Amino acid sequence: MWARKRIDISWLDLAKAAGFLARSTPKMRPSSACNWPAVEATYCLSVRTALDLWLTAKGFARGSEILFSAITIADMVRIAEQHSLTAVPIDFNVALQPDVQQLKRLVTPRTKAIVLAHLFGSVIPMQTMDEISLFAEQNDLVIFEDCAQGFQGIRYCGHDGSDAVAFSFGPIKTATALGGAILQVRDPDVRAAVRTIQAAWPQQSRWSFAKRVARYSLLKLLGYRLSFRILTFLWSRCGRDIDQQLGSMAKNFGGQSLFEGLRKRPSAPQLHLLNRRVSRFDSQQQKQKLSMGLRFAHQIGNPCLLACSNSERRNFWVLAVRSQQPRQLVATLRRAGFDATQRSSLGVVDAPDGFSPAVQARNFMDEIVFLPLYPEMPLAEVKRMAGIVRKVEDTQDSPRFMPRPLRPKSSASVADEAVDAAMR
Ligand SMILES: Cc1ncc(COP(=O)(O)O)c(C=O)c1O
Repeated sequence: MWARKRIDISWLDLAKAAGFLARSTPKMRPSSACNWPAVEATYCLSVRTALDLWLTAKGFARGSEILFSAITIADMVRIAEQHSLTAVPIDFNVALQPDVQQLKRLVTPRTKAIVLAHLFGSVIPMQTMDEISLFAEQNDLVIFEDCAQGFQGIRYCGHDGSDAVAFSFGPIKTATALGGAILQVRDPDVRAAVRTIQAAWPQQSRWSFAKRVARYSLLKLLGYRLSFRILTFLWSRCGRDIDQQLGSMAKNFGGQSLFEGLRKRPSAPQLHLLNRRVSRFDSQQQKQKLSMGLRFAHQIGNPCLLACSNSERRNFWVLAVRSQQPRQLVATLRRAGFDATQRSSLGVVDAPDGFSPAVQARNFMDEIVFLPLYPEMPLAEVKRMAGIVRKVEDTQDSPRFMPRPLRPKSSASVADEAVDAAMR
């Protein structure tokens, strides 16, 4: 069985993390830890911490409205609510990007900010970002760009019009540091306020970072085919749901209350690991993953099945497809040895009174299936997986997704051309 996700960290990085823990590593200031080109970067414990810090520093009045990409993790909305703000969902258009026209209609005199999430390992097309950014500027709104899923090294450091940009290095993210985030804040006063607030928080203990290193080393081990097969067998024998077990193991702040977990400064070993991951970012591996994903997109026969298929920049952090029969697709893929799932930590933001629900986003979440994809998978296996998706989706009577005409080229040459364009 190909596990749905492999933790993106090498055994050498994990050994280094243990080394950082063992040595009395020199202290690093959270504002100067990483080799990151954006001078205004601040390093914090997570993207959720970054949002919490930024909202505290901004100090929006109670009852202000914050527009959110309709699909995000529930904690992001909880954080806004903790600041007595109202989250309003921005629905998606048919290309599964934020619907800019709807966004414009959502603005009221109480609207203060827009939180835009780049989803499924793809960045919102720059044309859309430009349009939203211009609109925000004209309406005195600020943008928080949630790049938790979109780290691609220095290829993308955020949009120029965003007031804040945050990248996650959480346990299941690209180039994970088992935790940590980079927050860029454009306004120097807000940046200084963010740093002052964070400096007053307690520090993450070395012990809690050590537990993380141990937990995720175990999860990495379980990502291998043989160990994953044994584990699946044992868990099913005990009547346990593998989805649930893996979900709870991968939880970032397991055991603590959300705000107790979030409001901490990263420990020195955490910052050293983050520094190592960012400064040694493997763009070759990134390119390989991109090429595999694009080949897959071609092989399924209808690239529109891919989530956010019109993105110009993507990293295939996850491989997500839209299916008309998601349950059947998951079952067929699992029987064939691919650990596909519909489960994710993402959800749809509920509309407050007086706003319309995000219908497209909800439909989309019902259709989505996540598939395994990582450089260790042989191309023949990716092709076999694509064949299964193609077969299941072809059996539908009334396809809802318009097939895009495919060029009569091999998937390899299509992928190579697209990778070159995307990495430029
Ligand atoms: C869209 C999105 N936003 C925010 C987050 C939170 O990131 P972190 O775990 O660094 O707080 C996630 C985590 O998966 C996410 O997917």
